[in-house]
Amino acid sequence: LLNTFGKAENRIALANWARKKSNNPIVELLSLAAQPGLVSFALGLPAPELFPIELYKQAVDFVLTTDEWALQYGAPYQPLKKHIVSLMARRGVECHEDQVFLTTGAQQGMALVTRLLLDHCGQVICEETVYSGFQQVIEPLQPSIITVSTNLETGLDVEAVESVLASGRRAAFIYTIPDGHNPLGVDLSPDKRAYLVALARRYGVPIIEDDAYGFLHYDDSQALPMRALDDQWVFHIGTFSKILAPGLRVGWIIVPRHLISRMSVAKESIDIDTCTFTQRTIAAFMEIGNLSEHISMLRQEYRTRRNAMASALNEYFPAETQWTFPDSGFFVWVELPLATDVGGLLRTVIEKEQVVFIPGESFSVNPASPASHGLRLSFSNCSLNLIEEGVKRIARTLKTFL
Ligand SMILES: Cc1ncc(COP(=O)(O)O)c(C=O)c1O
Repeated sequence: LLNTFGKAENRIALANWARKKSNNPIVELLSLAAQPGLVSFALGLPAPELFPIELYKQAVDFVLTTDEWALQYGAPYQPLKKHIVSLMARRGVECHEDQVFLTTGAQQGMALVTRLLLDHCGQVICEETVYSGFQQVIEPLQPSIITVSTNLETGLDVEAVESVLASGRRAAFIYTIPDGHNPLGVDLSPDKRAYLVALARRYGVPIIEDDAYGFLHYDDSQALPMRALDDQWVFHIGTFSKILAPGLRVGWIIVPRHLISRMSVAKESIDIDTCTFTQRTIAAFMEIGNLSEHISMLRQEYRTRRNAMASALNEYFPAETQWTFPDSGFFVWVELPLATDVGGLLRTVIEKEQVVFIPGESFSVNPASPASHGLRLSFSNCSLNLIEEGVKRIARTLKTFL
């Protein structure tokens, strides 16, 4: 029997893109990160001790006892859309419930907008170093990816985007993470946001604004999302993953109104609807709990962890290295001297020091990219002690590599 299966497996003809693909490194790191004793700076996991479990239990109980539609197929839940409109207002974005499209997380938001805008072998514009989940979304369509660089203080190079568009290349969209960039930990400056929106309008190229970390901002002042500047050319993607819990798998897109029905058709073909029960429990949670207060607590907590990581890097990392100090999100990006063997460093710190991080090349669109001498450290999922201890251990090994 096993042989028969083995043979069948060998004969299954995969699509071109799937044949080229090896294993998923993030899934492998997830299982590694769960090993006891390992200090993991690898994944952007929220801190589970900060999940509002008691209040969420009450919301679940309330929905199960009062709502006969809780476990049924159902239309997108209007009260949740209403709450999202209020949440967006906190960010300075004015929108209406009929522009809110509920998704199974931000990841699905990206996949749906891509499905709507990008043809097979079309063109997209994104940064050279970018969230690997975005690369996975576009890969099956085998697009031509036009990359621009990122300034570690002001974000994506908007002038380079202008040169591309002015040269006549027609991109289906521009993908950006303006707040708490994953993996670079930089925010796009307000001037560049306005400039990018002006380009989108002038050349008729939509922007996908991935706002997974926008609510987790650590300064008092924050630039407006691009969706606050334009309601026609910006697809703004939000999520409850980082502000409530990622296991709920609920996010949203603020979509130009006339495209909602097309988005619905695209979504129905994938999963019919976002989990009905979770939509309703999140709405109930937002009725009985105070999400604004919860977000304020998260900002305080993650700010403390970011500060702990910055102090540890200052104290232990060698002078030849540089790193970003993120105003938002979960990630610090570290740049090592050009010739450093980052893969070797990772293998050694895992084996000898029981620490794991993600090497920069996992985020680069092109193999010979500047990200290859970088690494991403996530501070969201470790206690203050472990942050210091982990950075100290990486520094110890790093010194032997330089
Ligand atoms: C930049 C970015 N976008 C999207 C996602 C996916 O978020 P969600 O859990 O809402 O699907 C992540 C998750 O880490 C992310 O870092």
